[in-house]
Amino acid sequence: MAKNLKNAGPRKHEPLVLELIPENLLREPIEYIFADHYRMRQVMATMDRFLSEGIYAQPPTDDDVKADMAVIRDYLRDELPPHIADEEEDLFPCLERNSPGDSDTKQILATLHQEHEEDFALLPPLIAGHDDLLAGKPVAKRDLFETSVIRFVETQRRHIIWENNIVLPLARRRLSAEDMEQTGRDMAARRGLEYPA
Ligand SMILES: [Fe+2]
Ligand SMILES: [Fe+2]
Repeated sequence: MAKNLKNAGPRKHEPLVLELIPENLLREPIEYIFADHYRMRQVMATMDRFLSEGIYAQPPTDDDVKADMAVIRDYLRDELPPHIADEEEDLFPCLERNSPGDSDTKQILATLHQEHEEDFALLPPLIAGHDDLLAGKPVAKRDLFETSVIRFVETQRRHIIWENNIVLPLARRRLSAEDMEQTGRDMAARRGLEYPA
């Protein structure tokens, strides 16, 4: 509070707050994944803004910027890998099993799988860059960091559109109640959570 009173000007942007997904939604795992896509979009939008406004060019001195950067770093480090695993280990194989002879779906899932592989290649430079900035240092490999941010934001936006508009609607139609429960149980276990009663 004291800080807010001291800093006369209002902040220009809302703080980046990623709402926790209610654990009950694990019973509807496709909606859980859909909710996570919304959070990812918030992360992408802030990364895009930090890059275009030159905020990534030097370590942040503003506490609000530092807080947003930590949210981004924590999401990339702790939340994106299990999200990708939800899709790679549960949702996609399940959808593929339930879509015999559907070569279009197979092709879309193959493309999304390749993009997940690329995400895993981009994550180390992205996380290292945020770690440097949060430690008060300029990014050690700045060119690699900035090209990774650009590539990541650009591919993720398209990736989420394909998943939200094609893969999730297909999964809602094609996964059985048992598939949904198994997927939700695996997602809970991946996060160290109890499957909701
Ligand atoms: Fe994905
Ligand atoms: Fe996704």
